[in-house]
Amino acid sequence: MRRMDQSSDADPFTYARAAAAELQSLAGGPLDAAVVLGSGWGDALDVIGSGGPDGGGKDVLFADLPGFPAPTVGGHGGMVRLTTVGQRRVALFAGRVHLYEGHGADRVVHGVRSAVLAGASTVLLTNAAGSINPANGVGAAVLVRDHLNLTGTSPLIGPTPPEPHSVRFVDLTEAYSARLRSLAKEVEPGLGEGVYAALHGPNYETPAEIAMLRTLGADLVGMSTALETIAARHLGAEVGAISLVTNLAAGLGDTPLDHTEVLAAGGDAGERMGRLLRGVLERL
Ligand code: HPA
Repeated sequence: MRRMDQSSDADPFTYARAAAAELQSLAGGPLDAAVVLGSGWGDALDVIGSGGPDGGGKDVLFADLPGFPAPTVGGHGGMVRLTTVGQRRVALFAGRVHLYEGHGADRVVHGVRSAVLAGASTVLLTNAAGSINPANGVGAAVLVRDHLNLTGTSPLIGPTPPEPHSVRFVDLTEAYSARLRSLAKEVEPGLGEGVYAALHGPNYETPAEIAMLRTLGADLVGMSTALETIAARHLGAEVGAISLVTNLAAGLGDTPLDHTEVLAAGGDAGERMGRLLRGVLERL
């Protein structure tokens, strides 16, 4: 069961349970927390936890775990680092799967779902985002207070999930934990909060779409996070999410949007973001 079947009757929870068992055995026991490092957050990895045996860590390629998509041609498919922060076992996902790569919602949430089934009761999601709110300039880290899921899909579409997760009408009133936002503010006082609009992508938005999102109450715009939050909440995990503003949203800056600039802005902030995430993990 190395690959999630493309057919519609494949049960994503079966794959997630298989991946969870493998994550647990590699980590040496149940996980406490999972962190997903989004575009440009890769430099945060070593700051949070070691991958070497000296630091008690292990790096595993997605390709070697059940249910993850095969790496795309020319690219590397991402990996998960199983490590410890203090006494806690943590899975650090470096790289994620996006809808815009052509994957369904089940694949997009597979890593998070597997980690929660492996015991992670806290999930910290990170992303690169465009800023719609002038209060947050490039380089700002913003705590996600809520989201607008505008992807048109949900990871809970499909057959009834297996017991004990069969109730899929998940309450999202407090999708993003106020407690985790407070912990983040202990580490970095002055962090702002905002609403994240998740779009399908991969094209960036038009200025008219950004004007619409602003009217709808969005502060941030990106192409990830919301589906993973829904999947984690469905399984009962506490979710925190942090956006790193890599650009002003379309029409709000002077220059056209450029993916390499988005990645560069993320890279510049990697170490600071790593310290922030580590600080939250230490305070759980
Ligand atoms: N729009 C959508 N996704 C993004 C952006 C953006 O401006 N920046 C980084 N990810």
